[in-house]
Amino acid sequence: MGVNQKQVKVGLVGYKFMGKAHSHAYRDVSFYFDTKAKPVLQAICGRNEEGVKEAAATMGWQSYETDWRKLIARDDIDLIDIVTPNNSHAEIAIAAAQAGKHVFCEKPLALTLEQSQRMLDAVEKNGVVHMINHNYRFAPAVQWAKKLIEEGRLGRIYHIRATYLQDWIMDPEFPLVWRLSKEVCGSGALGDLAAHSIDLARFLVGEFKEVSGIMETFIKERPIVEDSSGLSGKGSSEQKGPVEVDDASVFLARFENGAIGTFEATRFAGGNRNGNRFEINGEKGSIRWDMENMNNLDVYFHQDEDGLQGFRTINCTEEVHPYAGAYWPAAHIIGYEHTFTNLMVELMNGIDQGYSPLPNFVDGVRNQAILEAVQESAQTKQWVTLSDIFKKAEPSVKS
Ligand SMILES: NC(=O)c1ccc[n+]([C@@H]2O[C@H](COP(=O)([O-])OP(=O)(O)OC[C@H]3O[C@@H](n4cnc5c(N)ncnc54)[C@H](O)[C@@H]3O)[C@@H](O)[C@H]2O)c1
Repeated sequence: MGVNQKQVKVGLVGYKFMGKAHSHAYRDVSFYFDTKAKPVLQAICGRNEEGVKEAAATMGWQSYETDWRKLIARDDIDLIDIVTPNNSHAEIAIAAAQAGKHVFCEKPLALTLEQSQRMLDAVEKNGVVHMINHNYRFAPAVQWAKKLIEEGRLGRIYHIRATYLQDWIMDPEFPLVWRLSKEVCGSGALGDLAAHSIDLARFLVGEFKEVSGIMETFIKERPIVEDSSGLSGKGSSEQKGPVEVDDASVFLARFENGAIGTFEATRFAGGNRNGNRFEINGEKGSIRWDMENMNNLDVYFHQDEDGLQGFRTINCTEEVHPYAGAYWPAAHIIGYEHTFTNLMVELMNGIDQGYSPLPNFVDGVRNQAILEAVQESAQTKQWVTLSDIFKKAEPSVKS
């Protein structure tokens, strides 16, 4: 560790899919990057003692807890990281902020706009650093897309076409994991997948003005779950329960700056395992990105010579590409886990310098408002404006 490097003692709540991804990022960030602060894997928390003890040993945590309240009460914890299902984010984040801990939370921020606003109020009131995990922003190719747009290389933006396509629940016998319970996750493909596309659109294009959506649940009943982790689960074939969330959500959007967007999030796009993709078209050019080839950014510029025009592929692994220079020589590609490591650079610098890096809970609140607008539009079959969503929410919710 560097001589002047501050330590950030982390308490992680949850230890499965995202638990592993975040643990890896804490372990790796100081290996690749010269951050001002360095995370210490202080304690990991889960309700099952045997499971969390094993996770602590495997992933390199110094201690474990079986109750997140005890974790938050510990004096030797600076940052609470929440990687539990969505219905527990608000309670844990608010308690952590009230105890003066910095908070890093998984997406979507909460179940509702009102809940997410309470989380934002709590972190602001207690003056702690906060951040939400929209890790896809931190792929070097996405950061490069942002730079090209900010430099005006695409000119005025006309379109974003974003899809997030998966296929892991197409089997009707796949069980009712927590991602299919409205009470636990709020919405299905919408909050799980479209939340990422919405974040990318807000990052690259701008603020949403209004949306019009449809949501569909193709398989209405599934076996009750026995055990689950991340995107896998085991079920009982005899007992079934209702699926309460959308299998697919599709919506149109208008942005404040006049751009328009189409969004499709589904878990029923056979053959697409993690098809998080977007294409953006502007007056001077276009860009497109596909998570499954995440190091590449396709670009097209109208100013290219006649006869040589067309999309070309930039492998965003050169020194000049954000974060890429910390890893390997050009074209020695990086992967999914590095999006988390790159985000961690910002979180550690934010904690060291006392600011909340983007995307933070303000972004989480805006994202949640868009999710809520799409849900309302699907129910009412009407366009819904974001200003109306904020007006209808609790008086404390600020647009
Ligand atoms: N950023 C991303 O790309 C991304 C990807 C996957 C999941 N997520 C988000 O991460 C969160 C977790 O998803 P996951 O796939 O890791 O889920 P998971 O089912 O793999 O793991 C959830 C973990 O939370 C623990 N847990 C649940 N309730 C708890 C409680 N009350 N106290 C302590 N621990 C508790 C479980 O034991 C488990 O360890 C969700 O909010 C999800 O939307 C984000």
